[in-house]
Amino acid sequence: MIYDRRPDDMVRITTPALAEAYIEEQVEAIRAQVGPDGKVLLALSGGVDSSVCAALLLRAIGDRLISVHVNHGLLRKGEPEQVIEVFRDRLQANLIYVDATDRFLDKLAGVSDPEEKRHIIGAEFINVFAEEARKLEDVAFLGQGTIWPDILESEAGIKAHHNAGGLPEDIKERFELVEPVKILFKDEVRCVGKALGLPDSMVYRQPFPGPGLGVRCVGAITRDRLEAVRESDAILREEFAKAGLQGKVWQYFTVVPDFTSTGIKDGKRCDDWMVIIRAVNSLDATSATIEEVPYWLLLKIRDRIFREVSGVNRVLYDLSCKEPATIEYE
Ligand code: XMP
Repeated sequence: MIYDRRPDDMVRITTPALAEAYIEEQVEAIRAQVGPDGKVLLALSGGVDSSVCAALLLRAIGDRLISVHVNHGLLRKGEPEQVIEVFRDRLQANLIYVDATDRFLDKLAGVSDPEEKRHIIGAEFINVFAEEARKLEDVAFLGQGTIWPDILESEAGIKAHHNAGGLPEDIKERFELVEPVKILFKDEVRCVGKALGLPDSMVYRQPFPGPGLGVRCVGAITRDRLEAVRESDAILREEFAKAGLQGKVWQYFTVVPDFTSTGIKDGKRCDDWMVIIRAVNSLDATSATIEEVPYWLLLKIRDRIFREVSGVNRVLYDLSCKEPATIEYE
């Protein structure tokens, strides 16, 4: 059955058995909607919603699902590789991988205004995806990982939900939408993802903003600072996982501001970047408290950053809650 809205009396999907029943029902619904030959195109970011949507579509129509993973160069370390490994290698999905790093970084060069950065990243993403879509003339359906809170938020005027809205007219009018997780809350999407066999690191992934590391490389993005953000973030995530904090702390990441401070390296003055560690807990991102990260863990992360990330001479720990701070730096 294809639902337009979440039924008022719908049972919350919290168990593997309920997830299986949902999957079965949606597989039938997808097959009925797209027919025996219909093809579906999907932008697969590797986030929870698009990954679960892709896995469901894959279960229903196999290689008639064409997923496009756009690497905007602002993804976390290992993310594009994980999408390829899980979907192309493990699940045998028909996956188009586009490394558009240079395109994005060229457009972003010298741009320091956060909203302009967001706009450039969003617009360029649509350009890259639309270019891929235009190459696939025989595809009539567009899959989307819209979830129920997206719909509620756009109805309440809080935020326009990110999906097809931004696409150019020629693309929009060509496609019929397929949205198989549209009536689910986030915890239900995770439950369904787990039942579909997606790895925990994908299903229980912490929230990650669309503009990615771009808003954590404060000010105008440069490749060296972006690398410092990516490498320090990877160290932070690895050490949090080893300490059992993965999945327990709501969101944790590193930030590199666009100014240097004085330090000493090999007896000589060096003006290098600083890495800020941020770890917060929240229910819905409207407010946040800081995670009290154990001191020994902070020192271990500091030591690894100094050893493994070049161009960094200072590591700081952010004590700010939301409000007055926001979670991201820009
Ligand atoms: P703030 O910084 O506003 O962040 O306290 C609240 C939550 O939203 C995420 N965030 C974004 N997500 N696009 C996104 O998709 C964005 O431009 C964006 N900015 C912030 C942030 O990571 C946090 O979870």
